[in-house]
Amino acid sequence: NYYRENYDSQNQKVVNKVVLGFSQVGAESDWRTANSESIQSAAQAEGIKLIFSNAQQKQENQIKAIRSFIAQKVDIIAFSPIVENGWEDVLNEAKIAGIPVIVMDRAIDIQDKALYVTHIGSDFEEEGRKAGRWLLEKVKKTKGSINVVELRGTFGSSPTNGRSKGFEEIIKPNTFIKMIGCKYGDFMKSKGKEIMENFLKSEGNRIHVVYSHNDDMALGAVEAIEEYGLKPGEDIIIISIDAVKAAFQAMIEGKINCTVECNPLQGPELMKAAKSIMKGNSLPKRIIINEGIFSQDMAKSELPNRKY
Ligand code: AHR
Repeated sequence: NYYRENYDSQNQKVVNKVVLGFSQVGAESDWRTANSESIQSAAQAEGIKLIFSNAQQKQENQIKAIRSFIAQKVDIIAFSPIVENGWEDVLNEAKIAGIPVIVMDRAIDIQDKALYVTHIGSDFEEEGRKAGRWLLEKVKKTKGSINVVELRGTFGSSPTNGRSKGFEEIIKPNTFIKMIGCKYGDFMKSKGKEIMENFLKSEGNRIHVVYSHNDDMALGAVEAIEEYGLKPGEDIIIISIDAVKAAFQAMIEGKINCTVECNPLQGPELMKAAKSIMKGNSLPKRIIINEGIFSQDMAKSELPNRKY
């Protein structure tokens, strides 16, 4: 177990388990479920007491949770911010209370970078670039234009912003690739299906490629495409992000063409950072998780190795 030493009002030494308050975005995707499990099991393995709070996709719930961690005088606060903006006030409150903050997974956009110790998480822009490069390679010999629809995640969130930006950076100079539509699906399968149904209604057979910001939405789009009477993965190329097991299964069935890895198993890295902070060590401002990319031809051999 991991302990911290304190002195009570009689100046007696008291030893307590380190307490970490974590505010999670929600449970919108397979990725998120794996991320929550990773945090919970890593806390247990390290003997850190975890107060885990699920914000059900609402920033106001995350702010409330952080305020409640401050009131409970936790040792460290960590959170995966649903959106990038709007964290100044509550992080200033944590600073006044002297509680260090770790930003996990998604990034925040804040002027005063001293309001958090470190940001542990993926490079979302690079994930978008990887998806773009894969598409370029796939269609480079195609004649005529390639029409792409983009299923975005949550409006104002860093994975959505980064994945759009990185993809666009690669695609833009190649004018035969045309973005013909984008809609927000909050990283949820049901919404991915719904927005794909709408794209098919308005664009029909003009759609050549779906670029989905996560696997759950891509799997929803697969259902919509099948119900429309087309073959996902053949009639429409599907590129996705996360690399969860269900996407590997869909790749084996030929329904998704490629998935860029976004690794949710960040719990051990979070606990390592929490322990370093408690020891008074400094940490890099940014800790990036290493990730790969998987296409259909790799799916069968890779599936047994997937942990989420
Ligand atoms: O912040 C990471 C993203 O959020 C994952 O790609 C997605 O599946 C999740 O919901």
